[in-house]
Amino acid sequence: MSQVLPDGSQQPPLLQLLEWIANPFGYMERSAQRYGDPFTAELRQSNPLVFFSHPQAIQAIFTAAPDTFDAGRANGLIRPLVGDNSLLLLDGDRHAFQRHLMMPPFHGERMRSYGEIICQIAEQVASKWIPGQPFRARDAMQEITLQVILHAVFGLADGDRYQQLKPLLASLLNLTGSRLGSSLLFLDVLQKDWGSWSPWGRFKKRHQEMTTLLSAEIAERRAQVDPTATDILTLLIAARDEQGQGMSDEELRDELITLLAAGHETTATTLAWAFYWIHKLPAVQEKLLQELASLGDNPSPMEISRLPYLNAVCSETLRIYPVTPIVSPRILKVPIEIMGYLFEPETMLAPCIYLTHQREDIYPEPQQFKPERFLERQFSPYEYLPFGGGNRRCIGFALALFEMKLVLATVLSRYQLALVDKRPVQPVRRGVTIAPQGGVQMVITSKR
Ligand code: HEM
Repeated sequence: MSQVLPDGSQQPPLLQLLEWIANPFGYMERSAQRYGDPFTAELRQSNPLVFFSHPQAIQAIFTAAPDTFDAGRANGLIRPLVGDNSLLLLDGDRHAFQRHLMMPPFHGERMRSYGEIICQIAEQVASKWIPGQPFRARDAMQEITLQVILHAVFGLADGDRYQQLKPLLASLLNLTGSRLGSSLLFLDVLQKDWGSWSPWGRFKKRHQEMTTLLSAEIAERRAQVDPTATDILTLLIAARDEQGQGMSDEELRDELITLLAAGHETTATTLAWAFYWIHKLPAVQEKLLQELASLGDNPSPMEISRLPYLNAVCSETLRIYPVTPIVSPRILKVPIEIMGYLFEPETMLAPCIYLTHQREDIYPEPQQFKPERFLERQFSPYEYLPFGGGNRRCIGFALALFEMKLVLATVLSRYQLALVDKRPVQPVRRGVTIAPQGGVQMVITSKR
């Protein structure tokens, strides 16, 4: 007997997929309104995908034993970008081991050591903005976050290879970043290399260039290991499992691309949204500026990162339009019962970040940007999940939050900015993420 899945759209899977690509938030909202929570989506090329937004269901998924699900298998979409050995695509023991190796640089003292450089990079990028000349906040933020991640991953802040890597990575991500380009990842029929004039041909060419550069960097680093270096590449080269086995060149290369890609687009997009809300809502801006001023001149990165209202602004930014609408789908390996449904192996379960963050019962007036809600109460990890959860929770969450706070504090305390266009900005798809349409046009009105 086949399992009884929650209700969902009866439209053909290809049509559902096209709507999911073109308007993901709309697709989720309409489905939830019509079919409730949970609902089932049939997207071409995959097993049924069940969306959940009830905290109890999310808790059941995030706290299940790690061998209940595979998640890497469900991320095949990004394989052309990150490669077979990416943490995002691994499952089981390999995933657990690789994750264990990759976590330390993103937390504690290591992460805090990036504080000064993040502020310097933000200051240097902002110093190039010309008063009165509009710029796109998302591009500017991407410039900052790209430099930060290159620094953290390679310990590089300059040099030939750095200068080559920076534009290459940006253009690679831009190729899959437009609404049209997103279809490249979702629809494998478009993945045909018809030479450099075809989008996939261009993608493949840039990807090959990127692979060559990274392989050269890995070979050089292996040849001369610097025992004092603390960058992530050096740490990964030195890492060994219990049998003394280290990572192969291919594994290293794929993890580097994963960190570079996962580590800066997401943070840049969230920062662009933060700039949007802060300048859209004068009361938020005023309160934030007062809090920043209370630290006096030249506060330390740690002092900035502990500011409660700044933290609330970042949290609310990640709540209202989360960068990824769902967590990595979990593919069941054993049957599980959730919310009265018995799901069978191979069913895909997706805790839905966006719909959970839009629940009226947890977040009254969910469409309103209200940082105060994060000062008034604490939300559980099953009510607030911008970084996912369980054994797949984002490994870069602490770095992302730290970076967001430092960039906002550095820029806002030096420049008075304004939105160029007063109309509301809509969220649109950018690859597997969701970003502000038009990138948020801003202008410097004065220096503080
Ligand atoms: C605002 C910024 C960011 C957001 C919103 C974000 C969000 C997410 C989400 C939702 C997941 C999936 C979690 C799950 O399936 O439960 C994830 C996974 C991941 N993120 Fe992030 N992320 C951000 C920044 C970063 C940074 C800075 C890095 C690293 C430098 C990073 C590296 C990763 C990696 C490697 C994974 C895969 C983890 C695994 O599968 O074990 N992310 N992120």
